[in-house]
Amino acid sequence: MNNIVLELQDVWKVYKMDEVKVPALQGINLKVKQGEFIAVVGASGSGKSTALHIIGALDVPTKGFVLLDGQEISKLDESKIARIRGKKIGFVFQTFNLYPTLNVLENIALPMRIHEFDEDKINEKCKELIKLVGLERRAKHLPAQLSGGERQRVAVARALSSQPSMILADEPTGNLDSKTSMEILKLLVGLHEKEGKTIVLVTHEPDIAAYAERMVELKDGKIIYDGKVKKRKGFFK
Ligand SMILES: Nc1ncnc2c1ncn2[C@@H]1O[C@H](COP(=O)(O)OP(=O)(O)OP(=O)(O)O)[C@@H](O)[C@H]1O
Ligand SMILES: [Mg+2]
Repeated sequence: MNNIVLELQDVWKVYKMDEVKVPALQGINLKVKQGEFIAVVGASGSGKSTALHIIGALDVPTKGFVLLDGQEISKLDESKIARIRGKKIGFVFQTFNLYPTLNVLENIALPMRIHEFDEDKINEKCKELIKLVGLERRAKHLPAQLSGGERQRVAVARALSSQPSMILADEPTGNLDSKTSMEILKLLVGLHEKEGKTIVLVTHEPDIAAYAERMVELKDGKIIYDGKVKKRKGFFK
């Protein structure tokens, strides 16, 4: 059986700023298997976020193909892409991206509301997720009333609420201290190990990347390494 859930074929992304062309990705080929845990590393500006956005269908390539579960998504219209994205992919960002006027429970429930889950299902799933991330006693808090780590835990719960098989995380620990970073990381590792979620994690930190099974290193928009995690300390600062 083919268990490739995501494939990038010769993906290019060229940003045009007036006369200046920035080739952010230059011919990326990548196959991601169901249940893999991949760390994407590389210097600032190497194309990590651009690659993650294309993997998650938040952006389309200038050239090349993106196949999600064998389906070529770059040719679909935006509403179809949004539906597929919502069902299959959960995002976690460095800056949490929570809705400031919604409380913890409401933030977690939002993707389910968008996908029109019924109310009983939403309540049941919210209870499960808030427990998973250990925020039962913060359910009614607004994001501004939470610590950074708590906010990121809400974001992880929200990413899980539409029951995606893949979690994409862009520097999810970038704004957190090392202890809190480890908590978030443990949460992601648990999702990978216990629930078989596919995880693609962008990070600058070798200690964080060390938890992945596979490492993809970008330089100037190209993959320069794809294999086992290299444990050289501080190598991609
Ligand atoms: N919307 C945009 N318009 C124009 N250029 C962009 C845009 N987004 C990114 N770029 C350029 O593309 C290149 C890759 O950017 P990207 O954000 O993917 O890097 P990154 O590896 O995530 O960096 P960082 O570690 O700093 O987050 C950079 O040179 C950046 O300036
Ligand atoms: Mg980035």
